[in-house]
Amino acid sequence: MQWRRRHCWTHIAVLLLLLGFIGVLYFLHHHKLFLGQVGRGYNPVTYSSPEIEANQSALQPTLQETGSPQQILRPEQGLTTTRRQMVDSYAYIINELDKCQLRDPFLVLLITVEPQQVEARNAIRQTWGNESVAQGLGIVRLFTLGVREGNHEQVHSLQHQIQQESHRHHDIIQQEFMDTYHNLTLKTLMGMHWVATHCPNARYVMKTDGDMFVNTEYLIQKLLKLSVPPRQNYFTGYLMKGFAPNRNKDSKWYMSPELYPGEQYPVFCSGTGYVFSGDMAQKIHNASLSIRRLHLEDVYVGICLEKLRIEPAPPPNEFLFHHWRVPYSSCKYSQLITSHKFHPNELVKYWEHLQTNKQNACINSNANGQGL
Ligand SMILES: *[C@@H]1O[C@H](CO)[C@@H](O)[C@H](O)[C@H]1NC(C)=O
Ligand SMILES: *[C@@H]1O[C@H](CO)[C@@H](O)[C@H](O)[C@H]1NC(C)=O
Ligand SMILES: *[C@@H]1O[C@H](CO)[C@@H](O)[C@H](O)[C@H]1NC(C)=O
Ligand SMILES: *[C@@H]1O[C@H](CO)[C@@H](O)[C@H](O)[C@H]1NC(C)=O
Repeated sequence: MQWRRRHCWTHIAVLLLLLGFIGVLYFLHHHKLFLGQVGRGYNPVTYSSPEIEANQSALQPTLQETGSPQQILRPEQGLTTTRRQMVDSYAYIINELDKCQLRDPFLVLLITVEPQQVEARNAIRQTWGNESVAQGLGIVRLFTLGVREGNHEQVHSLQHQIQQESHRHHDIIQQEFMDTYHNLTLKTLMGMHWVATHCPNARYVMKTDGDMFVNTEYLIQKLLKLSVPPRQNYFTGYLMKGFAPNRNKDSKWYMSPELYPGEQYPVFCSGTGYVFSGDMAQKIHNASLSIRRLHLEDVYVGICLEKLRIEPAPPPNEFLFHHWRVPYSSCKYSQLITSHKFHPNELVKYWEHLQTNKQNACINSNANGQGL
């Protein structure tokens, strides 16, 4: 009797253990924590096979878990039809469907700004994002927005302003994810999706931020226009090589070993400003469908490129892209593409100075010196 009872308990224990194991497996799978394919030449963060990930319904539970974003706001326009057409996609609240219908633009600018940063948007509209900067070539400017956190009133009134701004300028796209630093990857992917879907023949695309100074004219002249025939599989910017994941939990760039177990990131381009040929939007977006999302958008895009086996190209010289602020002089600024950390007022001030001084800016570079 004694023996039988013990035997029975052993059985139950084994059964419980098994159930627990299955539970853990289910949890890992459900939360997509499998880090499969390590050491088989795949990227370490690829976590499952594309076949599975490509199944759109497979991720539905995750989407529902993210809290129903629909409750946040209910824009009047019937814009919710594109909801969840693909893995991890969010519905567009504001979209621009016709930007590229008349002609294929030479350059699409995808500019990351927060919903409330209307000053930054206005400054960019007046300066480097002015679509008439490159006369005759065709520039499309789009600000990429998520939804701001806050109480219902705040969110609603801000959303109302954004809708009006959008009606006026037609340069905003917005999806219904929370606009947070940790969701920047979703924002970039929205931009990629937009180009792939609504502007697939754009020659080049630049993704940059709302606090950047971008010399659009020089970008076109120096980097893009010279290349005839147009490039494909092209991706460039400020190259970040040999960077290791930051394991300091207090850092803005912290990356947990669970999310990225590797010891080194692939080469990527600083998210402050990178430029790619239009064909890349679709490729990157498609690659992203089978790569687990990481919150550092520039690292993430680098991982997509690695998967595509497309190496970011070094720019023609190392003084074009800067991810810090270059001290202003009309000479320097007439020959760079990006400089970082500009307040909207400064942007307008320096831009105007550059416009009136860009001719021969470097001939009397001492006299022209610090300019302002
Ligand atoms: C995708 O998943 C759903 C539900 O999980 C299933 O019914 C469907 O057959 C799958 N489709 C493909 C193509 O695997
Ligand atoms: C863009 O530039 C054109 C031509 O220089 C100018 O007429 C227009 O007012 C500018 N747009 C904005 C929003 O400043
Ligand atoms: C990203 O957006 C989703 C959808 O709105 C939200 O549920 C999630 O909390 C956001 N993530 C972060 C880290 O902010
Ligand atoms: C999309 O990605 C999948 C998996 O990475 C790949 O098999 C497929 O060929 C890609 N499709 C296109 C159109 O690039």
